This record gives sequence, structure tokens and C-alpha cells, in this order.
Amino acid sequence: MAGLKLDRATKDFGGPPVVDGVTLDIADGEFIAVLGPSGCGKTTILRLVAGFERLGGGSIAIGDRAVSGPGLHVPPEDRRVGVVFQSYALWPHMDVAGNVAYPLRVAGVGDDEMRRRVGQALETVGLSGLGARRPADLSGGQRQRVALARCLVMEPSLVLLDEPLANLDTHLRGAMQREFDEYHRRTGTTMLYITHDQAEAMALADRVAVMSQGRLVQLAPPSRLYREPATRMVAEFIGQASVLDCDVLSAAEPGQAHARVLGIDCVLRAAPGEAPRRAAAACLRPEDIAFAPAAPGAGHATLRRVTYRGGSFALEAAPDAAPDATLRLVAPEPCALEPGARVSLGIRDGWIIPAA
Ligand SMILES: Nc1ncnc2c1ncn2[C@@H]1O[C@H](COP(=O)(O)OP(=O)(O)O)[C@@H](O)[C@H]1O
Ligand SMILES: [Mg+2]
Repeated sequence: MAGLKLDRATKDFGGPPVVDGVTLDIADGEFIAVLGPSGCGKTTILRLVAGFERLGGGSIAIGDRAVSGPGLHVPPEDRRVGVVFQSYALWPHMDVAGNVAYPLRVAGVGDDEMRRRVGQALETVGLSGLGARRPADLSGGQRQRVALARCLVMEPSLVLLDEPLANLDTHLRGAMQREFDEYHRRTGTTMLYITHDQAEAMALADRVAVMSQGRLVQLAPPSRLYREPATRMVAEFIGQASVLDCDVLSAAEPGQAHARVLGIDCVLRAAPGEAPRRAAAACLRPEDIAFAPAAPGAGHATLRRVTYRGGSFALEAAPDAAPDATLRLVAPEPCALEPGARVSLGIRDGWIIPAA
């Protein structure tokens, strides 16, 4: 088992950096999700850690051992890192046991030891008894488990997973998420799990590293990302948010400030030291905003969309004070409001996004 440290890791492919000064300190046994939109550099980070790419600048250490840095590049096979790709990358002509045994064979492990470890890895992923099947005769979920078993059989100190569930349907994704979670609990292996799916990241990870355009924007536990996003990008990428202009008026209790949003005076959560300023931004979650039907011509906002979510409705409204902004609200079922309805608003809670 090993932690992982990236220190100002940088990589370009001849153009601007696609990984841009990323510093990450992951504790031994932590489950970290790397989350961000397509093209933000997630896979490149994984390939740098695995040793498939050479670092342009900075350094990487696995456990106590420097593996990438100026003049240093430990080859992938000497890093004790297991990798699971989205595409599974199984050998079609080998059966399941053969696929799982492959890295052991390459490493020159003897037959008895190999059989024992393959059996154990297949049991870990719930595939005992399917060792003689070909990948073509397995479901997508089973193939992904073979890929996971092939990674685990090497007893890696660090497991890297690149969108391992992106090809599976929703139900199977949920089941596989539980298996990753259980595997992590049972073994305490350090996991770096790449995904563009924020719900998956939030469900699995101890901490989530949010990336944008090659940079690490925030590294925090899921609830902190949701409640205290460091930037507007994080606020909008994680969960549902209304990001609204806000005037910070004065400090309240520690961690809170008096503010005015949409012309409404309220008390919002704020970073320590948040000072009065104009043109700040506030992140309000749907549950932070109270609303009630208002008479035509009264109230604060007009409903634009009403979407049924099963048990609740997601509402979008245009506030009078900022007609171009979108307010995201949630209403329990039943809900009689329709697009065009007027509503009055109350602000219960929210977070002042720190100044850049
Ligand atoms: N081998 C490569 N050569 C040139 N550009 C690359 C290479 N690999 C990745 N890129 C570019 O780097 C950026 C980040 O890619 P990637 O790490 O795959 O993003 P993500 O996994 O977040 O979708 C993209 O713009 C991609 O086109
Ligand atoms: Mg990728």
C-alpha cells in the first residue's frame, strides 16, 4: 500500500500544457476521484502516474519512492501500480483465467502460485467458476470485473481506474460501484478513480479532485465540494446550483456574512476573512431557496420550466432582479405550479464563492 504525491506535475504534447502544475497529496489507503469535463487532462494524469507518459516538469512519488522527475522515469512495470481502463483491454483469444494470469506469467510467477492468485482474484470480483469462459461470452459488467481481477492479481500498492464504468448501463454501474467500494474497504488499497460523472465521484470517493483545463481547481471531500465550492466552475459542475451575483455587506458570526442576493437580504456561509465587497458570486442549492406562489405582478421570479423527477419536481425560474440568471428550485410532489407562474422567494442558506 502506498500514498501518492504529485508536485507541480506538468505535461504538454508540444502545445499548451494539458496537465498544468498539478499538486496532489493522497494518503495511503485513500479513495480519490479525479473529476472533470472531457479533455481536462484526467487520463493524462493517470498515464503519468502509471509511467506510460514522461513528465514534462515537477515530480511524482508513489509511497516514499520518487518515480518521475527531472532525469528520472521509473518504467511502468516497476511501479506496482494496477490500471483498469474503460475499454477493458482483454485478450479475446484467452479465457478469463488466462487473461487474469497474464501479468503473473509475464512476471515469471510459478504455476502453483499463479493458480492460487488467479483463483483468489476471481473470487474477489465474484467470478469464481467462470475462469474457462472467453471474454466474448461475458456481459459488459463481467468483462469489467475480469479487467479488475487482472489488475488486482498483481497486488498493486496503488490502483488507477480510468472511467471503468462508462460503458455500462445505469443499474450495472450502481452494482459495480458497490463492488469497488467493498474492495476498497476490504483491502485499504489507495485508489485513483477517474470519472466525468460527478454522482459517481461523490458516491465513491473520500475526496474528489476537480480539474478544469489541466489544472486542479479543488480537492475536498464530496460534501465540502457541494457546500463550499472554491470557484464558479466547481459550483456549476457539482450538483444543481444557482450561481447569482451577490453583495457581501458585513461579517456575521464566524463563517457567515450578511449579503444581498436578488435584492433579498440574507445570511450566507462564507470563507473565514470574507470582507464586504460588491459583485461577488453566491452558490445557492435548490434546497437553499424557499418559494411560494405569488399573485400575478407580485413576487420575485417567473417559473420557466417544471420537470418531473419522480417524487419531486425540478423547477427553473427567471428572477426579476437578474432575468438572465437561472434559479434552480426543488418542489415536493404534488406540485401544481406551471411555467409562467409567479413565485416569491426566501433565501435560507448559500455559500459566498471566495474571491479568486
Ligand atoms: N498523446 C497525445 N498527443 C497529443 N495530445 C494529447 C495526447 N493525449 C492527450 N492529448 C490532449 O490532451 C488533452 C487532455 O486529454 P485527456 O487527458 O485524455 O483528457 P480527459 O481524460 O480528461 O478527457 C486533450 O486536449 C487531448 O486532446
Ligand atoms: Mg480520459
